[in-house]
Amino acid sequence: MFKVAVIGASGLLGRAIVDELGQQRDWQVVATAFSRPDANRIALDIRDAPAVDRFIEQQAPDAVVIAAAERRPDVCEHNPELARALNVDAVRTLAAAAHRCGAWTLSISTDYVFDGAHPPYQPDSAPAPLNAYGRSKLEGERALMESTDLGCVLRLPLLYGPTVDWAESAVTSLVPAIAASAAPDGKPAVMDAWAIRYPTFTPDVAFVIRQMLERHARGKAIRGIVQWSGDEPMNKYEIAVRLAEALQLSAHLTPQATPADATPRPHNCHLASGRLEALGIGRRTPFDTAIRQVLAAFPWRG
Ligand SMILES: NC(=O)c1ccc[n+]([C@@H]2O[C@H](COP(=O)([O-])OP(=O)(O)OC[C@H]3O[C@@H](n4cnc5c(N)ncnc54)[C@H](OP(=O)(O)O)[C@@H]3O)[C@@H](O)[C@H]2O)c1
Repeated sequence: MFKVAVIGASGLLGRAIVDELGQQRDWQVVATAFSRPDANRIALDIRDAPAVDRFIEQQAPDAVVIAAAERRPDVCEHNPELARALNVDAVRTLAAAAHRCGAWTLSISTDYVFDGAHPPYQPDSAPAPLNAYGRSKLEGERALMESTDLGCVLRLPLLYGPTVDWAESAVTSLVPAIAASAAPDGKPAVMDAWAIRYPTFTPDVAFVIRQMLERHARGKAIRGIVQWSGDEPMNKYEIAVRLAEALQLSAHLTPQATPADATPRPHNCHLASGRLEALGIGRRTPFDTAIRQVLAAFPWRG
């Protein structure tokens, strides 16, 4: 039996990973959560190093997938201690514990390790994060590599997928403003048209991770840094237009050509996915198809 521990299984990406891996015969998935444990998710605070060590020792997994993180740039900016505890120190603790039991560790990172000025970015392009979130995730990558020689970093861009709350993703978080702008007395919703993103569907990422785990199960574990990205560039204004179409709303959207975020964000961090593609790994669901699945499963109630 091939056993995978998914850390942060209650999050946007973690849920998709558990759904995908749960379909594998002969695989056992042990899932953890922090504030949202349930019958299928064990409570584990990854800041509690002795608890992490005990968990990994008791479970003795073949692989550990770290999807737990503080991923909100504004929170990381205002609470760098929390960002460090989750995105750096906990990665080190988990990877060291996994290494002791011979498990492969896959840690999720972000395109925000780059400054966005010179896309596309290769796994070995020089990182230069612009904000506290990107800095903490870059340190987390280094912590992983220092803690195990059986480790892999998977960098990802903006994610969206089956959701339990619009705010879970920067894609679906646009829905309330789009809907409000379509109301009879609705004011136009101003949308960033400056930053270029490559929205990536969490079930596709989960499929990629399953393929990576299959390689490990065959004794061909991928080590070092790999990247995966959707291939449809869009700014938030364009994402909003496509969401409005999918929702069949006559939204009033105004593009804003200059960045408006309080936290500095990169312009275009397009991640080259070639290393995984060369291994025959990958799947890309078209944005319009995927977003309709997301909206249908969590319908907007106006
Ligand atoms: N979302 C994006 O657009 C995006 C883009 C690029 C990369 N990433 C990376 O992808 C990964 C997954 O992100 P996501 O969007 O799925 O994040 P998310 O939805 O915010 O989920 C975060 C997960 O971390 C868990 N967690 C929080 N504090 C914890 C603690 N103290 N101990 C243990 N677990 C804790 C949460 O558990 P509870 O919910 O149970 O509290 C949840 O399962 C992260 O590494 C993120 O940096 C995300």
